[in-house]
Amino acid sequence: MLWLLGSAALLAALGTAVVDAACTPACLPDEACTSLNNTACAANTTYYQSLGMSVSNVSTTVDCKGANMTVSVPKNLLEFLNYNPSASALSQNNCTGAVVNIVQGQRVYSLTVQTKEGTCGNTMMKNTTHVTFANSLYIPGLNSNGLITVGNISIQFSCTYNITMQTALYTVFKPVMTSQNLNSGGTGGDGTTTLAAYSSPSYTNPIQQSQQQVLPVGTTLYFGMITQFPDPAFVLRVTQCFATPTSDGTGSLKIQLIQGGCPVSGDGPNIQVVSNGVSKEVRFSITSFYFQGSDSVYIFCDAKLCQTASGTCASCSSSRDVSESPAQFVLGPFSFLDNSLFSSSSQKGVSVTLLLGSLLCFCIHLISQVI
Ligand SMILES: *[C@@H]1O[C@H](CO)[C@@H](O)[C@H](O)[C@H]1NC(C)=O
Ligand SMILES: *[C@@H]1O[C@H](CO)[C@@H](O)[C@H](O)[C@H]1NC(C)=O
Ligand SMILES: *[C@@H]1O[C@H](CO)[C@@H](O)[C@H](O)[C@H]1NC(C)=O
Ligand SMILES: *[C@@H]1O[C@H](CO)[C@@H](O)[C@H](O)[C@H]1NC(C)=O
Ligand SMILES: *[C@@H]1O[C@H](CO)[C@@H](O)[C@H](O)[C@H]1NC(C)=O
Ligand SMILES: *[C@@H]1O[C@H](CO)[C@@H](O)[C@H](O)[C@H]1NC(C)=O
Ligand SMILES: *[C@@H]1O[C@H](CO)[C@@H](O)[C@H](O)[C@H]1NC(C)=O
Ligand SMILES: *[C@@H]1O[C@H](CO)[C@@H](O)[C@H](O)[C@H]1NC(C)=O
Repeated sequence: MLWLLGSAALLAALGTAVVDAACTPACLPDEACTSLNNTACAANTTYYQSLGMSVSNVSTTVDCKGANMTVSVPKNLLEFLNYNPSASALSQNNCTGAVVNIVQGQRVYSLTVQTKEGTCGNTMMKNTTHVTFANSLYIPGLNSNGLITVGNISIQFSCTYNITMQTALYTVFKPVMTSQNLNSGGTGGDGTTTLAAYSSPSYTNPIQQSQQQVLPVGTTLYFGMITQFPDPAFVLRVTQCFATPTSDGTGSLKIQLIQGGCPVSGDGPNIQVVSNGVSKEVRFSITSFYFQGSDSVYIFCDAKLCQTASGTCASCSSSRDVSESPAQFVLGPFSFLDNSLFSSSSQKGVSVTLLLGSLLCFCIHLISQVI
């Protein structure tokens, strides 16, 4: 027994000596480099003992970034207290996979969950101005050969967001949206850019995929585009939008909606460009319409990051922006149902529908003549 203890102490001493050189990157101030098995940084138990730390000293940080919330707990303190933070789980207990990070000079285990109602047991509370997502983190005790000496820790955490065009997309199950990366030619960071459809001029009520093909005739669709691109020297500009009944944008039926950054005037659907080329957000709306002989409408928009210094980001350019190679965003299919056909006052619905249909045909005819 004595011999065993002695050899363990010798091993530990040897380990420390060998490992001090081998722990790269170097350990943090509250850690010691150990090497009984793998060479790794672990809590300096002498240090934590001297501080008399307990569970009440476990602090949590929550990072509410974009569409994710990340909760982090201190690795060394929890391991010192006989917890197993690597096995942390959210309220839905299959949501695990905590990863080691360093946050504010402290080694932590972090779990990231999307800000969506129901995901990993998230709850959502929403009022007119804010939406809050909440969840719980469970940290189990360390299982040392079947012996667990501490009870689970449960920590509530939440993220509150102002409801904006962007954050409103988190509040519905499957918003009608599409995203891709725009950048200004290489540099400048994350250019994730999203086009989404909303049902009201506040641009905070996203249309859901379950609704997009049962929209009442007469609905105005509000389209919002937003980019995460951080460089303040750039704004977002939609150069052109058009509509077709086909998902690939080809075919003879095509209505130009926005050209050179501005609405195309004519007898087609009513288009309002509320904001374009002035900020990271673009807003425009289109009254419902459809193509004769087809149920479906797809909206195609070209967008780019525009350097404000150019002075032309918000202008209506007469050229067709063909020299640029902007990115194309597609949303659809949208379909409009004439509910009034099935009600007693069907007459009005029919006439509005036919009128819209014939106007569109007229418009398409005009376009094909111009081309
Ligand atoms: C050493 O680590 C390996 C893998 O990490 C593990 O399988 C093994 O049981 C460990 N041995 C001891 C004595 O802890
Ligand atoms: C661990 O902490 C104690 C007390 O603070 C300190 O004296 C010791 O040098 C530390 N050990 C390492 C390896 O940093
Ligand atoms: C740990 O928590 C206790 C009780 O909340 C507090 O009195 C003590 O100052 C904390 N220790 C450290 C090092 O933060
Ligand atoms: C959110 O987390 C997912 C993976 O969970 C990741 O792919 C995505 O990049 C994260 N988004 C942000 C904005 O951090
Ligand atoms: C967790 O389980 C739920 C229900 O059993 C399942 O719907 C979900 O996809 C699982 N999540 C993960 C991350 O495995
Ligand atoms: C909405 O919720 C937020 C966060 O919970 C709260 O601060 C705010 O006062 C609430 N606003 C209204 C109008 O209830
Ligand atoms: C701790 O959590 C685990 C897994 O969620 C559960 O099986 C166990 O019963 C819990 N223990 C206590 C003491 O709450
Ligand atoms: C949320 O809205 C308030 C009031 O409109 C504003 O002062 C605050 O800066 C906004 N917060 C964020 C993170 O955008």
